[in-house]
Amino acid sequence: MLFNLVRRSVVVCVVALLAALAASIAAAEFEETPSQVNLLPKYRQECAACHIAYPPGMLPAASWQRILGNLQHHFGTDASLDADSVRQISTWLAANSATDATAHAAPPEDRITRSSWFRQEHAEVPAAAWKRPMIKSASNCAACHTRAEQGNFNEHFIRLPQ
Ligand code: HEC
Ligand code: HEC
Repeated sequence: MLFNLVRRSVVVCVVALLAALAASIAAAEFEETPSQVNLLPKYRQECAACHIAYPPGMLPAASWQRILGNLQHHFGTDASLDADSVRQISTWLAANSATDATAHAAPPEDRITRSSWFRQEHAEVPAAAWKRPMIKSASNCAACHTRAEQGNFNEHFIRLPQ
């Protein structure tokens, strides 16, 4: 009886330990791809017409705020929106923006592609590759990340067009 009880609590402990381990592995995976959050429909609708809906966790709140505050001069194009859409999107981006230390500093031009983590992750991409006709720009994530549209940047789904 006592033996049974001890054995049962050992089993419970092991199960709890495994669950904790699985959770921490899941958390680590998530850190690697901070990208898979449910997108605000308005964001998908308004901010994925010219490029993918960039994951909100890839820029700090200050960068998103500046971008949303200057949509008429948006990286060389006019991406203006009505005030209500801007407010909805801004609020959502702020709540889902980058929070970890590495991504916290606003990158030059508020570009994801100029943040230090981006440069590190892409250090092995040959400089000339960015200019290939199929790619055109580092901002064109989906040229190489075949599941970028789904917010999935996992290395298993990368294909470098020649
Ligand atoms: C009319 C087209 C258009 C719309 C609509 C648009 N963008 Fe852009 N966006 C661009 C262009 C063009 C670039 C520059 C791409 C390049 O350098 O190759 C850009 C770049 C960006 C970048 C920087 C990408 C990098 O290099 O890291 C971010 C962030 C961004 N857009 C966010 C948004 C958000 C948020 C919205 C919605 C409010 C939005 N965009 C709507 C055209 C658009
Ligand atoms: C020219 C092709 C190319 C483009 C364009 C590109 N990437 Fe990548 N990306 C890669 C390659 C290749 C790797 C893997 C590098 C390695 O593992 O050595 C990578 C790695 C990553 C990783 C790390 C993935 C992991 O599981 O470790 C993230 C996140 C990422 N890219 C995001 C982006 C975003 C966001 C954009 C667009 C703003 C982008 N990439 C544009 C080729 C590209």
